[in-house]
Amino acid sequence: MADRRPKIIGSSKGLREVLARAARVARTAVAVLIEGESGTGKELLAQHIHDLSPRAAGPLVTVNCAAIPKDLLESELFGHERGAFTGALAMKIGAFDRAHGGTLFLDEIGDMALDHQAKVLRAIQEGEIQRVGGNAPRKVDVRIVAATHRDLPARTAEGSFREDLYYRLAGYTLRLPPLRERGRDIVAIAKALLAREFPAKFLSRAAQALLLGYAWPGNVRELENVVRAAAIDARGRRISEKVVLAQPAFAGVAKPVTGPSAAARLTAVRAFLEQRGRIAAADVRATVHLQKAQAHRLLAAWERRGEIERRGAGRSTYYVAIRGAEAARAARRCG
Ligand SMILES: Nc1ncnc2c1ncn2[C@@H]1O[C@H](COP(=O)(O)OP(=O)(O)OP(=O)(O)O)[C@@H](O)[C@H]1O
Ligand SMILES: [Mg+2]
Repeated sequence: MADRRPKIIGSSKGLREVLARAARVARTAVAVLIEGESGTGKELLAQHIHDLSPRAAGPLVTVNCAAIPKDLLESELFGHERGAFTGALAMKIGAFDRAHGGTLFLDEIGDMALDHQAKVLRAIQEGEIQRVGGNAPRKVDVRIVAATHRDLPARTAEGSFREDLYYRLAGYTLRLPPLRERGRDIVAIAKALLAREFPAKFLSRAAQALLLGYAWPGNVRELENVVRAAAIDARGRRISEKVVLAQPAFAGVAKPVTGPSAAARLTAVRAFLEQRGRIAAADVRATVHLQKAQAHRLLAAWERRGEIERRGAGRSTYYVAIRGAEAARAARRCG
C-alpha cells in the first residue's frame, strides 16, 4: 500500500535544522517537547519522530489534552476499571497502555489541568500507571512526545504548569519556525497541495508572490485552506492573484508584514507589472500587504535603484517596470 501520510515539505534553513535535530533525537528514548505556533506542523513532526524511532513498528497514540473534557482525561490517559465511576460500564484501556512499546503523543500539553499534570508526572517518573478505580500499578514502556503552542516556561512561572513536569517533558526541545520565516517553503507546500488535490491547477507567478508576502498567522493549516479555496474558486486551470486576494484571509489587506523580504515583495510587484503593465501605489499595498507609508518608502527605494519608473503625478501616479539601472538612468536623462 502506498504511504498516504503527508510528508513534511520544505527546504528552508529553519525547517532543515529542526528535521536534522528531530532525526537525531528520534533514535533515543528521550522525551521530546515540540513548540510552535498553531498550524506549524507539530503533529506531523511527532509522527515523523515516531516513524524514525526504533519504536516505529509499535503504536503511536495521540491524546489531545485540550480537546478532552477535564473529567474524562484521566481515564483517557490511564484507563478505568469496570464500575470505577457512574457510567463506567466496561473496563477501559488508557492511552499509556495502548502506547506500550511505542510513542505517546501528548498534544496541547500546555492546556492540561494541574491535577492531571501530577498524575502524568508520576506515570513518566515511575514508568507505572494506575487505572481509575484500580489498585494494582501497571508497568508501561512509552516514549513521550509532547507539543504545545503555549509558552510553557511562562506558564510555569505563573504557576499553571508544573515545573517538574516541564523538565521531564523537555528532555529535548524542538521549535518549529512559523511559516512566514520559511521563505519559498510556502510555495512548495502550496504546490504539493495542488498536486494532491487539484492536479490540473497551478498558481500564477503573481499569486505565488502574494502567498510569499502574507504573514500566515494560521501557518501551514491556513495556507492549505487558502490554496484549496482559491483552487475551488479559479474558473480555469490557472489560479490568479485575484482569486487569492478574494479569499477571506486576505480581506484586511493593509496588514503590515514583518516576515517576507524586500526581494519577495519586489517579485510580487514585478509579476503584477508583467500582467497589467503598470501599478498604482494602492495596488502595491494590496499586492504586498503594506501600510501606505511603507509602500511609498519601498516604491521610492526601487525607483532610486532603477527597478521601476514613476509616471504621472499626484493622484494619477503609477509605476512601470524598467530594465535595470541603465534604463533608469536613460529614462532620467530623457525625463
Ligand atoms: N512542512 C509541511 N509540509 C506539508 N504539510 C504540512 C507541513 N507542516 C504542516 N503541514 C500540514 O498542515 C496541517 C497542520 O499541521 P499540524 O496539525 O501538524 O500542525 P499543528 O502544529 O499540530 O497545529 P495545531 O497547533 O493547530 O494543532 C496538516 O494538514 C499538516 O499535514
Ligand atoms: Mg496539533
